[in-house]
Amino acid sequence: MMRDRQKKRVAILISGRGSNMEALVRAARTPGFPAEIVLVLSNKAEAGGLAFAREAGITTAVVEHKAYGKDRAAFDAAMQDVLVAHRVEIVCLAGFMRLLTAEFCTQWLGRMINIHPALLPSFKGLDTHARALEAGVKLHGCTTHFVTPGMDEGPIILQAAVPVLDDDTEASLAARVLEQEHRIYPETLRLLASDSLAIERQRVLRRA
Ligand code: GRF
Repeated sequence: MMRDRQKKRVAILISGRGSNMEALVRAARTPGFPAEIVLVLSNKAEAGGLAFAREAGITTAVVEHKAYGKDRAAFDAAMQDVLVAHRVEIVCLAGFMRLLTAEFCTQWLGRMINIHPALLPSFKGLDTHARALEAGVKLHGCTTHFVTPGMDEGPIILQAAVPVLDDDTEASLAARVLEQEHRIYPETLRLLASDSLAIERQRVLRRA
């Protein structure tokens, strides 16, 4: 059995509901998973996901972005202090709704991942499901990727596609995509934490 000290120490950053965080926490509890969730950090004290994390016995922290006004660098530095204090090795963004400074992203290059609810590079940014319906695409989905300073631009790790059905609403499409998010995000963390990924320019390859 993998001893805990060999597992990668992971922080999950959330801003809201935290269903992807829950999927990661559940995966990390399965035998042999190469990562442990040591911290759930939110930029909002009222984030719904914090309650689940506390009940799961995970250390939580809140760094309120509002306290820093427009000073993104100071906010990111405050988060960095918390991450360092918990000896975090991998950061998972899971519905974390703040843009991060280039400096912060660079500090975590290759060790910070995100899940985006669209098939990148289509539909970067917000309201992806409404925009997919509007554009009339027949396939939609989700993407996990390394985080780089450009928003939703980092090397793609995994993607899952779902059909767009004629009677879809934003909510029904979002639910179909979310089911896939909960599948590919834990798998992405498993691959990263077991050192199975190599980044070559914009491509992520599996190490042999
Ligand atoms: C997810 O759709 C995720 O892809 C996006 O924001 C949403 C967060 O949902 N970045 P949750 O907080 O994980 O439930």
